[in-house]
Amino acid sequence: MRENPDYNDLYYQNTTSHSQIIDIITERAVPLSEFGAPIDWQVFFGNTYPVEIEIGFGKGRFLLEASKRHPKVNYIGVERAQKYVELTRERFEKYIRHFEVDRASGTFSNVRLAWTDANYFLTRYVPAASVRAYHIYFPDPWPKKRQRKRRIFRNQDFLSALIHTLNSDGGRLYIVTDYEAYFWEIQERLADLSVLHSIDADLKPDRDIATNFETKYILEGRPIYRAVYEKVCLKAE
Ligand SMILES: C[S@@+](CC[C@H](N)C(=O)[O-])C[C@H]1O[C@@H](n2cnc3c(N)ncnc32)[C@H](O)[C@@H]1O
Repeated sequence: MRENPDYNDLYYQNTTSHSQIIDIITERAVPLSEFGAPIDWQVFFGNTYPVEIEIGFGKGRFLLEASKRHPKVNYIGVERAQKYVELTRERFEKYIRHFEVDRASGTFSNVRLAWTDANYFLTRYVPAASVRAYHIYFPDPWPKKRQRKRRIFRNQDFLSALIHTLNSDGGRLYIVTDYEAYFWEIQERLADLSVLHSIDADLKPDRDIATNFETKYILEGRPIYRAVYEKVCLKAE
């Protein structure tokens, strides 16, 4: 039985009407509904580079640094809070102005911001086995008991979509949180999924790129918990 039937309905109503994808370079915001579902990444980005998705990018620190560092990786950031989408857009704009980035140079042509709900986006718009990596950093822990059903890792539809859309061989899921109880819960839930295997958390690339929450919590001296999973499809004997 699904644990959180209300959760999806509520968020879908709130997010589907305004969902859009923002191109940092052209500054165009296109309603998500104008894209065919699922999105053909090759047509969308105009290249065959691998696609990585950050869910809940907040103030966009990781997205900016990672997309700058890896021009041959396509990044989609998914965030449902308008406030953070705007802040992230401004972060990119400030960077472009400050460092006088030539918009024709290709820098940031590999990144898009999707203002929408991750569950909605993954279940409808992301093609099967098309994502090289998901980055989920400091997912909302919803600490109050009555709100815990909102935890994204409790959402079976979300988990199924995550697995379904990861590359079949070697697609990775990177998780970081400061919330120990949620960290163990995530580990338990993912342990039930036979195609995901926990691998050495030190394999996280770009460990030096901290998100806003990570920067803040490290300064406060809080412990940080990290996990990396890899999707491995068992071949028929
Ligand atoms: C605790 S913040 C972490 C932000 C950022 N990752 C960081 O580490 O600084 C969690 C973020 O996830 C976003 N979020 C939560 N659930 C989401 C969902 N279902 N779809 C998209 N974004 C979501 C929230 O709006 C918030 O910005």
